[in-house]
Amino acid sequence: MDEIPGAGPSQASSGQHSAADRDWWRGAAIYEIYPRSFADANGDGTGDLAGVRARLPYLRDLGIDAMWFTPWYQSPMADGGYDVADYRAIDPLFGDLAEAEALISDALGYGIRTIIDVVPNHVSDQHVWFQQAIAAGPGSPERERFWFREGRGPNGEEPPNGWTSEFGGRAWSRLTAPDGTPEQWYLHLFAAGQPDLNWGHPDVRREHEDVLRFWFDRGVAGIRIDSAALLAKDPALPDLPIQPLPGEHPYVDRDDLQEIYRSWRRIAEEYDGDRALIGEIWLPNPDRFVRYLRSDVLHAAFNFDFLTAPWDAEVLRTSIDTTLMMHGRVGAPATWVLSNHDITRPVTRYGRADTGFAFDRKRYGTPSDRVLGERRARAAAMLAMALPGAYYLFQGEELGLDEVEVPRERIQDPMHFRSGGVDPGRDGCRVPLPWDGEKPPYGFSSGDVDTWLPQPDDWASMTAEAQSADPGSMLSLYRMALMVRRTHPDLGDGSMKWIPSAPGVLAFQRGDSFINITNLDTDPCELPSHERIWLTSAPLEGGRLPANATAWLRPSA
Ligand code: NOJ
Repeated sequence: MDEIPGAGPSQASSGQHSAADRDWWRGAAIYEIYPRSFADANGDGTGDLAGVRARLPYLRDLGIDAMWFTPWYQSPMADGGYDVADYRAIDPLFGDLAEAEALISDALGYGIRTIIDVVPNHVSDQHVWFQQAIAAGPGSPERERFWFREGRGPNGEEPPNGWTSEFGGRAWSRLTAPDGTPEQWYLHLFAAGQPDLNWGHPDVRREHEDVLRFWFDRGVAGIRIDSAALLAKDPALPDLPIQPLPGEHPYVDRDDLQEIYRSWRRIAEEYDGDRALIGEIWLPNPDRFVRYLRSDVLHAAFNFDFLTAPWDAEVLRTSIDTTLMMHGRVGAPATWVLSNHDITRPVTRYGRADTGFAFDRKRYGTPSDRVLGERRARAAAMLAMALPGAYYLFQGEELGLDEVEVPRERIQDPMHFRSGGVDPGRDGCRVPLPWDGEKPPYGFSSGDVDTWLPQPDDWASMTAEAQSADPGSMLSLYRMALMVRRTHPDLGDGSMKWIPSAPGVLAFQRGDSFINITNLDTDPCELPSHERIWLTSAPLEGGRLPANATAWLRPSA
C-alpha cells in the first residue's frame, strides 16, 4: 500500500483549522453563494447581500471555512452577473459597497472568509470601455481593448472566423452604426452581451491588477477566476485547427496565461501571504492543468474531472489517483467538487441512467430516480469531504435540492436561448433556496413575492428549518460530516492510502485514525476492521455497508 503523496504539508504541521492560518485554502470547506438565490432581505424576489448577512449564523452552524460569491458587481445580468459592467460597484439588486464590506467583516467574525469571482475573459457590453469602443468607431484605440474585426465576404456579412460561442451559436456579433449600416464584428466566447477583452492590451492587464487590489484591500481572502484558461488569444484569430497541440489552440490554454497569473500571484503575495487564487480551468489534459498550479502561478483550481465523473468506482478511483498524483507533482492541494451553479444538481444527476455530467448532454425530461440519487449524493458528499484537499459545495447541495425543470417562459439563462431551446440551461440549480414555511417563497423573501425563478410547490420538506429538525436529513448529514471534517486531525490537506477492498468499493485511510469506505456496488460490503464508526450516509445492514453508501471509521489499533 503506497502512501499517495499528499500535496504538501499535512494538516498537523500546517495547523489548517486555525482561522489565522495562511494556508487555509489547502484544506478548507468552501461554500458557493449564488447571491440572487440565497436569501432576499429586501423582499423584491431576488437575493441580496443583506440576506446573506442575516444568514451567516446558518453558515457558521454548517461548518464552512469560506464562502465564494459568484459575481455581485453591477451588471445587466445577461449571464447572471458574469457580464460585469463595473467591478468597483455592487449591483443595486444585491446592495452596495458598504453592505459588501460589512458582510466581509461580519463573516470574518464568524470565522468565515470571503472569496469573490473575477471574470477577466470578458466584460458586459454596458461596461464603459465597450461603450467607448462603440462610440469611437472602427480603427480607434478604444476598440483595441476588445476584438473588433471587419467581416468576411464582399460586404463583410460573414463573421471574421468560424469560432462558436461556449453557449452555442457563433462567437461574433455585428454592430450597426447609428445610421443603420452594418458595422464591425466583435468577439464574444459567451453571450453577445459579454464582449471578450484583448489581453494583449496593457490597459486590460493594469485594470485587472487594480481590481484585485481593490478587493484585497477590502479584506477578501481569495479570487475565483472565471474561464481562466480562455483569456489569451492568438491575435491572428485563425480558424480552429482540427487537433491543436497543447498550447496552440487559438484561445484555450495559451502559454501567455502563465505570466498573467504570475503577476496576479505577486499581487496576492503582497497581502499577508494568505490570499488565494482559484482558477476555473476546464482542461482535459492533466499535465497542462497542473501547470497553472505551480507555486508561482495559481493556488488551486476546480477539479472538473471528478465533478463530471459518473457514479462508477473505477472511474472515480482513476480520477482520484490522477488528481492526487498530478497535484502532488506541483505541491498544490486537490479540490473536490460535486456541484456548482453551472452543473445539474447531484441528487438528480446520480439518480439518472447517465450519472456523469456534460453540458451538451443536458435535455428536458431526463428521468431520475430521486431516492437512489439522494442515497448516492449523500455517499458522494462524504467521499469528497474525506479526500485530501479542499472541498467546495454549492448552496442548496446541503439541502439535497433537485434540479428543477424551470418552465420555459421563466428561464433566464442565455445557454438555453443560444441552444435554440434544446438545452434546459442552468437555471434548474439556481432556484431560490427554501428556508422555512410550507409554500413559496419558503422564507427566501421577506415578502410574499414571486421569486426571480419560481420555486417548486413540493419543497416544504426541503426547507432548512424542516431539515434541521430531522437527524436523518441531508442538512443534518452535511452538518455532521463538515464538523467531523473540521475537527478530525487527519482530514483536509494531507495524504491518503488505498486499503484493499472488493471491486466496486472505494476504501482509503487518512493518517492513523480515519477510514473512508464508499460502496458503489449493488450489494452490501463488509467494513474494514474498526473500533469506532464516526458517521455513515445510510444505516448499516447487519453490520455491513449497503450499496450507495459511505462510512467513516476509526480503524482498529
Ligand atoms: C463560467 C461561469 O461559471 C458561468 O456561469 C459563466 O456563464 C461563464 N463562465 C461565462 O462567464
